[in-house]
Amino acid sequence: MSTSPRLAVLGSGKGSNFVALQEAILAGKLNATIALVISDLPDATILTRAKAFGLPTATLPPSPFKTKLGPEGEIALVQLLQDAGIEWVILAGYMRVVKDPLLSTFPNRIINIHPSLLPAFKGLRAWEQALTAGVKETGCTVHFVNKDIDAGEIIAQQRIPVLTEDTPETLHARIQEAEHELFPAALTKVFQK
Ligand code: GRF
Repeated sequence: MSTSPRLAVLGSGKGSNFVALQEAILAGKLNATIALVISDLPDATILTRAKAFGLPTATLPPSPFKTKLGPEGEIALVQLLQDAGIEWVILAGYMRVVKDPLLSTFPNRIINIHPSLLPAFKGLRAWEQALTAGVKETGCTVHFVNKDIDAGEIIAQQRIPVLTEDTPETLHARIQEAEHELFPAALTKVFQK
């Protein structure tokens, strides 16, 4: 491993976790380099935010499927990552299921953040699932990615209380605040090993 691990961040959305990671790097709290920011959606805000930091970006070719890349898309993604000398693939709101050849090219080198205390509330809109279930506590999880959805080895978790007055929006916003602390801290722990 190089002294400053080379990361690619993949996201489909607004990229607030990407910003938290890049700010932690710039503040000297996370020893890493984001060498590439990739989205499956050309209009995703994460790309605009990456460009504002002066980071290289890429967009994946359109997929015939909504929830995964096609086989050609996965191959194109692996090529992009290899060409950029990427060591770690960081999923930050990336809304496609990860498959081979990506999984086999980066074994135990793909990390995701999920907005619940896994194994509770896997899948989409986990904060809404928590509210519907009436739990008193939820949070976020950083975990390794394997072939099963939101099921890889857990690296770190942060708990937050669910408040009686919480709406899906307020709960998600507080989970995201916790994510922005947890994600850089969890990656620091992984890269120190
Ligand atoms: C986060 O809540 C993360 O847990 C989930 O997707 C969301 C991404 O948010 N996987 P952002 O794009 O980083 O703001």
